[in-house]
Amino acid sequence: MYDLELIKLRKVYPGGTVAVQAFDLRVEKGEFISFVGPSGCGKTTTLRMIAGLEDITDGNLIIRDKDFTRVPAEQRPTATIFQNYALFPHMTVRENLAFGLEVRKAPAADTKRRVDAIIEKLELGAVAGARERSLSGGQRQRVALARGLVTEPDILLLDEPLGALDANLRKSIQEELKILQRELGITFVFVTHAQAEALSMGDRVVVMNAGVVEQISAPFELYTRPKSPFVARFIGRNKIIDGTLTEAGSGAATVKTRFGALKGVPTFDASAAQTGAAAMVVAPSEYVSVLPTGAPMEGETDSVSGEVTALDAVGQVVYVSVRLDDTQSVRLETYREKVSGQSIAPGAQVDLRWKPERASVVLAA
Ligand SMILES: Nc1ncnc2c1ncn2[C@@H]1O[C@H](COP(=O)(O)OP(=O)(O)OP(=O)(O)O)[C@@H](O)[C@H]1O
Ligand SMILES: [Mg+2]
Repeated sequence: MYDLELIKLRKVYPGGTVAVQAFDLRVEKGEFISFVGPSGCGKTTTLRMIAGLEDITDGNLIIRDKDFTRVPAEQRPTATIFQNYALFPHMTVRENLAFGLEVRKAPAADTKRRVDAIIEKLELGAVAGARERSLSGGQRQRVALARGLVTEPDILLLDEPLGALDANLRKSIQEELKILQRELGITFVFVTHAQAEALSMGDRVVVMNAGVVEQISAPFELYTRPKSPFVARFIGRNKIIDGTLTEAGSGAATVKTRFGALKGVPTFDASAAQTGAAAMVVAPSEYVSVLPTGAPMEGETDSVSGEVTALDAVGQVVYVSVRLDDTQSVRLETYREKVSGQSIAPGAQVDLRWKPERASVVLAA
């Protein structure tokens, strides 16, 4: 049994905008799922369909084997936390926390017990009697989280809940949230458009683009093995070289590029692939070294040569801009000690080198 299943979920808004197309997802109990994608790709719409705040145009929403597609929001075992928190300003923190339970007609003694427990869990005792305007950003965020959790949902839906926080607070609340989620064992669906946040928090990450699910993978897999051109460009800092597929086996594929034949691990079904199809070699920056032309490197490597056009140093980190040809330049991050004393300077010829098994071959269409 899954905690949450989206089966060909689709949303067309009354004006005709297709916000979400055929979204398929199965989530295990206790999983932390992140949704990431550019503005307008359909993240909030999907979350609102799960919460029951938006009608589902087509497809099915299943929670623990029960069909909730047409069940009203207040009868769903979900709770939602939005970016703007939406606390009631005239109520104290304690009253805000009790409100959701009162709406659900929980007995008063039960409400008090649960509110006390969540206040303790999220360390809100000192502000329990305060109103929203006197809370800091971090406290507000914690109250919003408490208000979602106090109803003891099976699934907690979070829509950019950390978006209003400054970078430091955001980082510490990310960690807290992840620890809390593990402790509670509740399924979290977490929407963000910050890829680092999606990757660091999610057990799996769903990448969306223009209403379509591009890839669902664990973070490292997503980072190192993109399955579509969109993911290759959107996630991580990949170096991408276009070409055509000339050979594809299960563990390795070859792409003919204007810089010669380059290899990589195919992220598509190699048995079904057509040679001659448009393809790209995708190498994560972290695996690409910049070396003086002809410098040796251990093991089998692929390489592309170019000319250094600029070096920009920020502390110990140096960004090397390399012009590969008239149409393509790349920028690589390296360390000062790796370029100092070597012939890596503007005007110098260099090789970009990487191990073929670190690169992926992605079909372009
Ligand atoms: N109530 C609505 N009526 C009509 N169209 C809508 C409505 N809400 C959203 N849309 C459209 O649906 C698409 C998806 O919007 P959605 O809010 O789900 O995107 P998002 O991924 O959450 O973006 P963001 O990162 O900016 O929050 C967009 O094209 C948006 O303009
Ligand atoms: Mg949104």
